[in-house]
Amino acid sequence: MQVIETIQEMRAFVNAARSQRKSIALVPTMGALHEGHLTLMRWAKAQCDIVITSIFVNPTQFGPQEDLECYPRDLAGDSEKASGVGVDVIFHPTVAEMYPNRYASYVHVEEITDKLCGLSRPGHFRGVTTVVSKLFNIVQPDKAFFGQKDAQQVLVIDQMVRDLNMNVQLEMVPIVREDDGLAMSSRNRYLSAEERSAAMVLSQSLSLAQQLVHEGERDIAKIRAAVVSAITEQPLANLDYVEIYNYPELESASTLATKALLALAVRFGTTRLIDNTILEAT
Ligand code: PAJ
Repeated sequence: MQVIETIQEMRAFVNAARSQRKSIALVPTMGALHEGHLTLMRWAKAQCDIVITSIFVNPTQFGPQEDLECYPRDLAGDSEKASGVGVDVIFHPTVAEMYPNRYASYVHVEEITDKLCGLSRPGHFRGVTTVVSKLFNIVQPDKAFFGQKDAQQVLVIDQMVRDLNMNVQLEMVPIVREDDGLAMSSRNRYLSAEERSAAMVLSQSLSLAQQLVHEGERDIAKIRAAVVSAITEQPLANLDYVEIYNYPELESASTLATKALLALAVRFGTTRLIDNTILEAT
């Protein structure tokens, strides 16, 4: 497995692979790899000849008060894990390589970025769509893999790909969870032991909603209220949002008709965690 740091070398590698008619998968990440990321890479390896994973803590998607500086970085550990699941190349550019002096271009997807994480993290998705566009242009992958963990991110990137006629096929991989249900995240390591055990309430509240739907509940306000009350009963949990929108349009609805995304963001101390599930009326 190679680690490539410049755009020029990345392009040369991709051109060589293309001339051998190899299919190329891209798995964009910010590193601090865990089983969630590795699952994306395994899916990519199963579907394409060459797997490229980018490890880049993208400054343009972090707000001024967010954890850019202390976001975990561990290239040595990440390299070992990525090579263990068959990744061919880690693309690990510097910030100056991706955003040189006088950098001035951004990609902005309207409307679906106005809610959920787009509301609580202004500018976040503009940074995500900008860096993902750059990565798509550099790597020109046949397929790109993203996790349902960031369900809104997948929808935003899908909108961008369709609107801007990008020639890449997106794959969404289900959420990978710890044994007790907590969705894996690079940010889980910030949790104290008490916060870690309190954070179980997130997946538990999603299961509660699934259970209500299973029992026939279709009133979205009632399902949302049950999730809000389960979370607010946990004293260490600080609610950012709990929302239910029809899926994949992300429009408001009062009744669960077909599919809806139940998404939540909750703070435990200074750590903000997100989780979601897709509710389905059958
Ligand atoms: P990052 O948070 O590192 O996540 C990289 C990819 O791994 C994303 O597609 C994310 O949804 C997926 N992922 C993370 N945890 C997961 C889990 N528990 N189960 C399944 N998939 C999981 O998302 C980003 O980086 C950035 O915004 C990025 C797309 C790289 C742009 O900078």
